[in-house]
Amino acid sequence: MTANELRSKFLDFFKSKGHTIIPSASLIPKETDPSVLFTTAGMQQFKQYYLNPDETRDARITTSQKCIRTIDIDEVGDDTHLTFFEMLGNFSFGYPDKENSYFKKETIKYGWEFLTETFGIDKSRIYATYFKGENGVSEDKESLDILKEIDGLKEIKPQGFTDNFWSLGTENSPGGPTVEFYVDGIELWNCVFNEYILKNGKYEHSDNKGVDTGMGLERLAMIMEGKNNVYETELFQLIFSKIEELSGKIYEQDEMETKKDSGHKAGYAVRDIDGRTVGMLDEKIPKLMRIIADHLKAATFIISDGVMPSNVQRGYVLRKLIRRAIRYGKILGIENNFTKQIVKVIIEIYKEYKELENNKEKIFEELEKEEIKYKNAIAKALKNANLVFARRPKENGSFWTADEVKADNLGRLAFQLYQQDGLPLEETFEFWKSNNIDFDEEEIANVFKKELKKHQDLSRTASAGMFKGGLTDAGEETAKLHTATHLLLAALREILSVEIYQKGSNITAERLRFDFNYPQKLTPEQIKKVEDLVNEKIKENLPVEMTEMPKDEALKISKVSFDPSKYGDIVKVYKIGDPSTSSGQVFSIEVCGGPHAKSTVELGKFKIIKEEASSAGVRRIKAILT
Ligand code: ALA
Repeated sequence: MTANELRSKFLDFFKSKGHTIIPSASLIPKETDPSVLFTTAGMQQFKQYYLNPDETRDARITTSQKCIRTIDIDEVGDDTHLTFFEMLGNFSFGYPDKENSYFKKETIKYGWEFLTETFGIDKSRIYATYFKGENGVSEDKESLDILKEIDGLKEIKPQGFTDNFWSLGTENSPGGPTVEFYVDGIELWNCVFNEYILKNGKYEHSDNKGVDTGMGLERLAMIMEGKNNVYETELFQLIFSKIEELSGKIYEQDEMETKKDSGHKAGYAVRDIDGRTVGMLDEKIPKLMRIIADHLKAATFIISDGVMPSNVQRGYVLRKLIRRAIRYGKILGIENNFTKQIVKVIIEIYKEYKELENNKEKIFEELEKEEIKYKNAIAKALKNANLVFARRPKENGSFWTADEVKADNLGRLAFQLYQQDGLPLEETFEFWKSNNIDFDEEEIANVFKKELKKHQDLSRTASAGMFKGGLTDAGEETAKLHTATHLLLAALREILSVEIYQKGSNITAERLRFDFNYPQKLTPEQIKKVEDLVNEKIKENLPVEMTEMPKDEALKISKVSFDPSKYGDIVKVYKIGDPSTSSGQVFSIEVCGGPHAKSTVELGKFKIIKEEASSAGVRRIKAILT
């Protein structure tokens, strides 16, 4: 039986027992609680039905729910842990008053019938556990009596709170004792009897009782296929074949690649995109393949539910999953971008989930973007760390020591890598260490923290602006002003002189401040002309496009006044305007980290509110968007 057949059999069985089949809910829970990142159990979408059974027409429901659990992420790749899995479940609400609702007797009876009759698992392989009473919650004697009635059950084991009591653990969530079915000693089916509600940290009796069961499809497949671990089931084989094809390594192979005479422990060499060894991992090939398969599966489902890689919350978990998969792919020797090839197989396996096929272009695109971004970040982390840093005077006139300059530069680089490229500090450290870059972790972490604080203060100012402005969010406001700054520089070059460069820039959610070289005060006519030209470009609704390209190429097309060695080898270039627009040419082109508005029309109206001297030969303009 394939996993697709197992899933259908389960749903059909419960349909035949009067349950309504409901589709899996999104991986992003409806709850607004940001601490609940992903859907981790089948009951989550029904939580309120246990408390208010009138909210559902159906007293009996069955589902196969896609779930993400990241708590054991470091265990993934052993025989039982997965971040993505499907939970098969049957549910009952509003017992005893609601028509057709059921509780312990039916749940246990249905479970036993399904395992032994529908699936024909030999009775002697199955034992059950029940709640023996603990932590002020009494023994589940009712379940014990029902289990005792079952003919052929191998054993009944009493267990405590940790093993046989289940609840989401959040205030107002239902919870209760469980009965668990084990097959060949493997925990397979968790049947929760929700007869309590968690209130003020205590489990209180609930007027409405309910049933919530969960059985991992992957474990069921493992037992039905007679395999030793979840990764050896049919659900993974096509993915492994694809990884084998891409990497030229075989799943069973157990070779160790050692770095000779290096003092490193034996393991697999981790290489960067230039082929340099950046670390060693003692993972075995099958484990690497399992992690790649699991993480890309999880990533595929998460993106299809609308989350994109980022540095916060869900986006960050997603980013970590993708990057770990990419990193392990590289260790296996996959040189090119490969996620798309594997995701195609995943989508094929999980055809039942239409959201994958429907969003496949988006999934491919996001994964590939992340692959490029990650590889660039690694390259930048290594190359920029090797720069020779110039000593600079301190504010009090004395000189920084070479070590201070180095820590300061590396700390700021580490922050930039974190902020712009999503590379966690620990990972940057790891890359530096394995490349024999000498640095002081603590000093760099201090600089990193300072930068982070500066950034947080800045975003706080920005969000203060958001509440004032009301309509748009702070990030968007800043992005627009950032785009306006590019238009301003281009306009200054057109109206005053082609030799104008940026000497400084500071943007808050309310205004931009821009410093540039020019020997005298601007006349009111000049200011008006600059303003008019920027507004003209805004009205033209020019697209703002970003391309990543090698630095040398970028410096040929964009004039900069700053030290280009500060930038990585691959830089972002923002262009405003394109040949197909009415202006007939690119109006502005600049090397820049972003972010920006998508199109100039979003900017509204540009207004210069101040023009003044900043220092000798440098003018300062403050401007707003209204
Ligand atoms: N909600 C229960 C679990 O997650 C069934 O195990």
